[in-house]
Amino acid sequence: MSRFMLAAGLRLFFVKVILSMSASKDVLAMASLEMDVSSVAAGSTVTVKWRGKPVFVRHRTEADIKLANSVNISELRDPEPDSARVQDPKWLVVIGVCTHLGCVPLPNAGDYGGWFCPCHGSHYDISGRVRKGPAPRNLEVPEYKFLDATHLLIG
Ligand SMILES: *[C@@H]1O[C@H](CO)[C@@H](O)[C@H](O)[C@H]1NC(C)=O
Ligand code: FES
Repeated sequence: MSRFMLAAGLRLFFVKVILSMSASKDVLAMASLEMDVSSVAAGSTVTVKWRGKPVFVRHRTEADIKLANSVNISELRDPEPDSARVQDPKWLVVIGVCTHLGCVPLPNAGDYGGWFCPCHGSHYDISGRVRKGPAPRNLEVPEYKFLDATHLLIG
């Protein structure tokens, strides 16, 4: 085999590897995630991975819901009522990526009963809205729906 043929063969091999890698990335980008939320206790948050990103699923208590609705919307940096961010007030579903520079905020932390991003100190409330720190926007709400009372489909 000539050196030229070897180089061409190697190149073809790498093109194939890269093509199959991008194909699986496309599949990943399309993927929906179904989860059973019946084991998520009220007051707790689970983190699932969806399309390569963390998603927080919070089973909110009555106190959480009250807190989320006790805010004067016009004083928020990114004004959104809680009702615009949830389908069922008992469940908050948000992408767990800080809107500042992309760190993953910590649940049950910060000054507003929600999340705290340790990278530069952004605080999010129990509706995932930014309340303090450098983050410019609320945590993003992904596309999702409840298939029934206990099955959540994200994406
Ligand atoms: C909400 O905040 C705005 C701006 O600070 C203020 O003018 C308004 O009176 C507040 N509304 C309530 C219900 O507290
Ligand atoms: S990345 Fe979260 S505060 Fe900077």
